[in-house]
Amino acid sequence: MADPRTEEQTPAEQRSPAEYWESRYTELDRLWSGRVNRVLEDVASPLEPGRALDLGCGEGGDAAWLARRGWTTTGVDISPTAAERGRAAARELGISEASLRFEAGDLAEWSPEEPFDLVTCSFLHSWPVVIPREAILRRATGFVAPGGRLLVTSHAAAPAWADHEALHGYAFPTPESDLAALDLDPDAWEVLLAELRDREVTTPDGEPGTVVDGVVLVRRLR
Ligand SMILES: C[S@@+](CC[C@H](N)C(=O)[O-])C[C@H]1O[C@@H](n2cnc3c(N)ncnc32)[C@H](O)[C@@H]1O
Repeated sequence: MADPRTEEQTPAEQRSPAEYWESRYTELDRLWSGRVNRVLEDVASPLEPGRALDLGCGEGGDAAWLARRGWTTTGVDISPTAAERGRAAARELGISEASLRFEAGDLAEWSPEEPFDLVTCSFLHSWPVVIPREAILRRATGFVAPGGRLLVTSHAAAPAWADHEALHGYAFPTPESDLAALDLDPDAWEVLLAELRDREVTTPDGEPGTVVDGVVLVRRLR
């Protein structure tokens, strides 16, 4: 007998990451603010632009910021809708395809053809659909050019106003666990940052609030 459930009726945690994230994007006209993430802004602002890769780029806020600062940028996300929104935003901002391109791909399998001077990965969290996040981060070390950097920014804890019941069972990464996931050869990599940073935000109720970001920045030695 055919399974009578529609996609909407299938519990989220039973969907594939691709199905889950695509439905998250198609449910709303826009999921994220479109603004650059603070940690990336702080870390990348002093750097000389080169080739950048944004892993799990969403609608492309970080990637567009990098491109506007002169980085030749590629954004990759598992959701084709997110990637298309990134392209649309780039067109609206007048950024050329040579400067900013987006690909839909699953980072558990996706690989670039050439290495990057900066690989950034902001908030690659997936819950209740689990992704092989640690394996993805480890693979990302292979995308960094000699002398290049890998930045991993994560939510270190749920904000006070989050739906804690929905997040029950989710193990938030720490800078230490992300660093361990990268499994770096100490002769080939330098750890530049592994720390927690408070960030002031506006809560959904319009009140001032604080969230905690985990930051890991490593550099591949030449
Ligand atoms: C919490 S969002 C963060 C989006 C964006 N980096 C930001 O900071 O706004 C996580 C993103 O990771 C993407 N993602 C989840 N699993 C993925 C995978 N296996 N491969 C590629 N992208 C993935 C999701 O589609 C989503 O856009």
